[in-house]
Amino acid sequence: MKSAWLLSSLLLLLEVNCESLQGSSKPNFVLMMVDDLGIGDLGCYGNTTLRTPNIDQLAQEGAKLTHHIAAASLCTPSRAAFLTGRYPIRSGIAGVGRPGVFILNAASGGLPSQEVTFAKIAKEQGYETALIGKWHLGLNCKSSDDHCHHPSIHGFNYFFGIPLTNMRDCQPGHGTVFQFHKYLPWRTLAIVLLTAALLHYSGFITIRRWTILSLLSLLVMVTGLLAGFIMVIPYFNCVLMRDHRVVEQPFTSENLTQRMTHEAVDFIERNSARPFLLFVSFLQVHTAMFASAAFRGTSHHGIYGDAVHEVDWSVGQIMQTLDRLNLGKNTLVYLTSDQGAHREEISTRGEVHGGWNGIYKAGKSTNWEGGIRVPGILRWPGNIPGGIQVDEPTSNMDLFPTVVQLSGALVPEDREVDGHDLMDLLQGRAERSNHEFLFHYCNAYLNAVRWHPENK
Ligand SMILES: *[C@@H]1O[C@H](CO)[C@@H](O)[C@H](O)[C@H]1NC(C)=O
Ligand SMILES: *[C@@H]1O[C@H](CO)[C@@H](O)[C@H](O)[C@H]1NC(C)=O
Repeated sequence: MKSAWLLSSLLLLLEVNCESLQGSSKPNFVLMMVDDLGIGDLGCYGNTTLRTPNIDQLAQEGAKLTHHIAAASLCTPSRAAFLTGRYPIRSGIAGVGRPGVFILNAASGGLPSQEVTFAKIAKEQGYETALIGKWHLGLNCKSSDDHCHHPSIHGFNYFFGIPLTNMRDCQPGHGTVFQFHKYLPWRTLAIVLLTAALLHYSGFITIRRWTILSLLSLLVMVTGLLAGFIMVIPYFNCVLMRDHRVVEQPFTSENLTQRMTHEAVDFIERNSARPFLLFVSFLQVHTAMFASAAFRGTSHHGIYGDAVHEVDWSVGQIMQTLDRLNLGKNTLVYLTSDQGAHREEISTRGEVHGGWNGIYKAGKSTNWEGGIRVPGILRWPGNIPGGIQVDEPTSNMDLFPTVVQLSGALVPEDREVDGHDLMDLLQGRAERSNHEFLFHYCNAYLNAVRWHPENK
């Protein structure tokens, strides 16, 4: 009798233990960043003509941040801040001149290896980690393959994507350089011949026939070299990698989001039995625009809208996978954009290729509100109430401490971290965000400070 009682209480104890373990077990993370997506492009943020049902559902089942601020209005610094929870100026990812982002794979800069990303910490906590999509934080230091800034240095065990960004030159017929080089030899030839004729006939100098011939051959050589250089840009800038291997050069954007989505789904399936952190960094909806055949012509907003539709489809595929594997409840999902939509973006054919920032002024690459106010959606059923809206100022840097603490680690104390853990706000334990000030830098220069005064 006594032993039966003992046994059953032991079982009860075990059960309670299991339950409490489950309740506090580490969540998985699926963090999604859409490139250049405007806050006004999503149904859940008020768009009535683009269809984003999957993203809207995320917001319905989770929290929608209405005052979510990117730490920079350009890809490279914004992403550095997102991964490290620190203003880009602290990690040195803040240029003093233009362009403020990496535009060459051959550049020797990148996110310094002594920076700590949430992926690095999650990995130390036993998470399987992956980056699928765009990196844009450097690749090599001294040689063409030392990969000193590769995502694997920063905690991503698996990488499938592009080290740089989706440049216009990566799409045949889109590059600005392409336009330039098309007429370059003829323009140069015309200018040289006209100048020579003018000088000759105005009597300034007499040009002998051989001089003209040698001038011409020099010209052919120079323009030929230049045009050749311009034509190979896609070969050294537009590479698709799997881990350390180049798998496509130049990459083709055809079905690329579909391929990335398959990679994401595969990763989740492979790791469903252990904690994982997946960063899905969409190449869309940045120029040059592309969309798979199934999505072309589906929106009222040209190829830009089609690309938004494709991203939403991809989000749906990832969510379905989580549900299918019964991981929904144990996975924190986040969706954002790296900065506001690029309002001025017009294609070489005059098509509008930039999104919509709603009521916010201007867009990408400015510190007007439209350049930095981004969508922010967090879903974690049972832990974040569904359908709530948080209007307090938050930052994409807040994901760093949030992910780090939920993964079971402590926020590093050997450095300044500018983000604040979001859980108190999301779970209703705090009404105010801890950001009394947010600093708005354009590259290395401070443009503005946002003050959120304490209520007295
Ligand atoms: C893209 O997908 C379509 C439809 O599935 C297929 O017909 C086409 O061959 C694919 N293209 C590439 C380059 O894989
Ligand atoms: C929806 O998004 C499109 C594409 O960016 C934009 O042109 C349109 O103005 C937006 N509509 C609303 C109601 O915000």
